[in-house]
Amino acid sequence: MKHVAIFLVFAALIVGLLFTLSDTKAPRIPDNEQHLVFDVEDVCWDCHGPDGEAPRKETHPPKDQCLECHKVKDNRRREE
Ligand code: HEC
Ligand code: HEC
Repeated sequence: MKHVAIFLVFAALIVGLLFTLSDTKAPRIPDNEQHLVFDVEDVCWDCHGPDGEAPRKETHPPKDQCLECHKVKDNRRREE
């Protein structure tokens, strides 16, 4: 019984470690002129689509709701 407990603690540590290592955070949307419009996802594709000037990497996570992951810097608000 004691061995099971030790194993479980050990397994939890490994899982936690892997989770930490694999934590690639989505970079913030830069605060520059190219990103003045940052709350309409359609515009992202103009530049970050396959034919844009700054296409996403091939390794980019396979989801397209940009704003679910990419947030603006804290000093910008979605007002106006
Ligand atoms: C006018 C063109 C343009 C538009 C529109 C645009 N971007 Fe960008 N974006 C760029 C360029 C150029 C870079 C810098 C790329 C680089 O340095 O590799 C960049 C960088 C980024 C980065 C940072 C990448 C990093 O490594 O830090 C993110 C995140 C990003 N854009 C998300 C978005 C999202 C989300 C939208 C839509 C709201 C968007 N962009 C719209 C041109 C654009
Ligand atoms: C599921 C979450 C998620 C969604 C949705 C998402 N991204 Fe990302 N994005 C990431 C992560 C995580 C990275 C960092 C990848 C890395 O470091 O390898 C990233 C990186 C980027 C970069 C930096 C350069 C690159 O290609 O890695 C740009 C630009 C970017 N995303 C734009 C976009 C745009 C535009 C959209 C919408 C069309 C979008 N992302 C949707 C999670 C997401």
